[in-house]
Amino acid sequence: MNTPVEGFSKLTKTQKIDWIATNCTKNPKGTKQLLEQYWNTDPKVQKLHDEFIENTISNYYLPFAIAPNFKINGELYAVPMAIEESSVVAAASKSAKFWLERGGFKAEIIGTEKVGQVHFIYKGDKERLSNFFVSAKPELLKSVASITQNMEKRGGGINNIELRDVTDKIEDYHQLHCTFETLDAMGANFINSCLEQFAKTLKEQALVFDAFTKEEKNIEIVMSILSNYVPDCLVKAEVSCSISDLGNADMPAMEFAEKFVQAVNIAKAEPYRAVTHNKGIMNGIDAVVLATGNDFRAVEAGVHAFAAKDGQYSSLTHAKIEDGVFKFWIEVPLALGTVGGLTTLHPLVKLALEILQNPSAKELMQIVAVAGLAQNFAAVRSLVTTGIQKGHMKMHLLNMLNQLGANETEKKQLVNYFKDQTVTNASVKEAFERIKSK
Ligand code: MEV
Repeated sequence: MNTPVEGFSKLTKTQKIDWIATNCTKNPKGTKQLLEQYWNTDPKVQKLHDEFIENTISNYYLPFAIAPNFKINGELYAVPMAIEESSVVAAASKSAKFWLERGGFKAEIIGTEKVGQVHFIYKGDKERLSNFFVSAKPELLKSVASITQNMEKRGGGINNIELRDVTDKIEDYHQLHCTFETLDAMGANFINSCLEQFAKTLKEQALVFDAFTKEEKNIEIVMSILSNYVPDCLVKAEVSCSISDLGNADMPAMEFAEKFVQAVNIAKAEPYRAVTHNKGIMNGIDAVVLATGNDFRAVEAGVHAFAAKDGQYSSLTHAKIEDGVFKFWIEVPLALGTVGGLTTLHPLVKLALEILQNPSAKELMQIVAVAGLAQNFAAVRSLVTTGIQKGHMKMHLLNMLNQLGANETEKKQLVNYFKDQTVTNASVKEAFERIKSK
């Protein structure tokens, strides 16, 4: 095991690589070569990437792919996806094509409100706190004027500040629960800057609020931070078609529709299934969120909290059959930005947004929700018909062959062979060894 290191961040990149290669790897020379192999050949581009985070020693590649033929509200999109899992892009593309032939996806924004909170401790009379809040609210708003000015010019800003009594959960615990409209920005920095100023102003105003006792004046700020739980920053995406249009080679249309609805209902009722069902949705969502330079951890946290909002973790998608029509939809909270953050910095993020015709945040929310719905359609469709492994393992075949060290001719031969054979780890290994021994 390596020993602690002092001042690692102050070392040059070469020194950092030297340290890590010598202290943490068995083959320092190979490690250095590998890390350098993943550097961008243009030093300017490499510097840009180095400076995204701290202690950068190389780049970590993910495939950047396109799922074409997404028709959303009548517009056609080629959707960029960054993801490592084989079969996700193929499934998205297949789903997009399927729905393209059936009118495409419809999507609508239900809300765009973001949330942030100042958490504080107040030991005193609650009515006096309420009176204080009424008198302090204009001062709170005034104190962030310089931060909100530009956002307000564009039509956004602070929607509301509410005083919340949370003493039923924690003694003396209260909040400023604040809501924001951040337009095309994800808004994390904007929100956090406003909240930190609110906290400061709250404390200052309490000190000069005459009706407070000495103890009451001493409001204790615990923290000020945005919430990634954004149930009112919500988008809905849906598809529908008559049952007869659900033609599926693997199963009669009605049987397929009924099984599909049943599978979704199982995910609604059963948390073990719901988690995997939603994971499949996140395959689509995360891939587009990542390709467009958005914060996928924030999206993940918010989406899963939303999936549990009724007290039990449940499916994000819904399906029903009504008057011979199959309907399938998703409602999902997505706090996304198409300006700020990485959007103008990372060349591939810029390109991804350009490919999507430089969408507004609202348009991106719709595209991302559709990607999630499409992914879920593909997964559930496979699950209730052929099973997931058939398609999944086919897509994984090249990874397995690369792992076995197959050359290009062997890969070609084996991909051809497995066109009508079941792909499993064992069958691929066996077929590879058979070819090798010839
Ligand atoms: C695999 O990444 C995702 C699935 O498990 C999703 C699902 O089961 O619905 C196929």
